[in-house]
Amino acid sequence: MPQLTQSRFIDTLSGQISRPVPIWMMRQAGRHLPEYLELRAQAKDFLDFCYSPSMAAEATLQPIRRYGMDAAILFADILLILDVLGLDVKFEKGVGPIVQKVETADDLKTVTIEKAVQRLSPVYETVDRVRGSLDSDKALIGFCGAPWTVALYAIEGRGGTDKSQARIWAYQKPDTLQDLLNVLIEASAHYLKAQVDAGANALMIFESWAEGLPSNLMDSLVIGPNARLVARLRELGVTVPVIGFPRGGATKLPDYVKSVPINGVGLDTAVDPAFVNETLPKDIAVQGHLDPLLLIAGGKMMEDRVVEILEAYRDRPHVFNLGHGVTPQASIANVERVVQIIREWS
Ligand code: CP3
Repeated sequence: MPQLTQSRFIDTLSGQISRPVPIWMMRQAGRHLPEYLELRAQAKDFLDFCYSPSMAAEATLQPIRRYGMDAAILFADILLILDVLGLDVKFEKGVGPIVQKVETADDLKTVTIEKAVQRLSPVYETVDRVRGSLDSDKALIGFCGAPWTVALYAIEGRGGTDKSQARIWAYQKPDTLQDLLNVLIEASAHYLKAQVDAGANALMIFESWAEGLPSNLMDSLVIGPNARLVARLRELGVTVPVIGFPRGGATKLPDYVKSVPINGVGLDTAVDPAFVNETLPKDIAVQGHLDPLLLIAGGKMMEDRVVEILEAYRDRPHVFNLGHGVTPQASIANVERVVQIIREWS
C-alpha cells in the first residue's frame, strides 16, 4: 500500500514554506465534475453514496486524477455523525440536508458513542481504499463538522438559517447546549481517530456556520468546543496535523487561532489577507481564501486574485484553497488555470 512519504501539503502544515505552494479545493469532489455526476447517478441516495466505499473512494480520487491536487479530501459528509447517532438525516435535491430536530442532549444519547463510531466503518474502509490508491506524495484529509455547526443542524433541522433557534437555546438553556456539544466532541474525536487509524494524513474541522455569532457566543460555542475537540484528539494519541476552519469567524479569528491548538487555519472569502498577516502568528499555516465564484467568472479577475493571495502569503506557510466549496457551476477550465498558476508561481 503506498504510504505518504513526501508531501508539500504536510510540510506546510508543519510550518515550512513550500514551492510550488500546495493546493487542493474544498468540495473538489462533486457536481462540477461530469465523472462525479455519472457515479452519483448510480447511487440510491446521497447517504448510500457516502456509505459505499467503492463509490466514495472513486469520488475522492476523481479530482486528484483530473487536477493533480496535492491533497484528496475524503468523500463523506459532516452530517453522517448525526445519522449514526440515530437522527433521521435526509439530503433533498435542490433543498440540501434536512435533519430530525432534537429537544435535549438525551436525544443524541440513544446510541452509545462507541456504537455510533463503529457504524461509520464504511467511511474507514473508504479511507483505507483511497490511501491504498494515492501516490506517495498525495495526502489524504479526513474531516468532521465542528460541534456547533453539527449541533445547529440538529437544533434547527437545516443549515443556512439565521441560527436564531440555536442562539436562543444558547441563552435560555446554555447547559443543555453544552451537553449536546460535548456529545458531539466525544463522538467526533473518536470518529477522527478512526479515520487516522485507517490512513488519513491530516484532519480538517469544518465550522461552516460561525458567521454572525455574537463574540461571547463565538467563545462559548465555537472557540471553546473546537479547542476541546482538538485537545481530546491529542489525548487519544492522534498526532497528524489539524486544520480548523471557522467560516465567518471575522474579527474573532485571532482568538480562535490563539485558543485552538491547530496547525493550519482555513480562511473564508471575507477575511482580508492584510488582517491575517497583522494578527495571526507567522508559524501557523494559512489555507484559503479564493472566492469560489471566481471559478465561474474566470478571466483576469480570477488570475489577478490568485496571484494577490500568493503574494500576500509569500513569507508564511500557505496552502492554496478557496474561501468555501467549489460550486456545481464552476468551470473545469478555470480550476485547471488556477492549478497552473500555482504550479508556475514561485
Ligand atoms: O470534495 C469534498 O469536499 C467532498 C466531501 C464533502 C462533502 N460535504 C460532500 C457533499 C465534504 C468535506 C462536505 C462537508 C460539508 N457538508 C460541510 C462543510 C463544508 C462546507 O461546505 O461548509 C457542510 C456544511 C455539509 C452539509 C451539506 N452536505 C450541505 C449543506 C449539502 C448540500 C449542499 C449542496 O451543494 O447541495 C450537502 C450535500 C453534499 N455533501 C454534496 C456533496 C458532494 C452534494 C450532494 C449531491 O451530490 O447530491
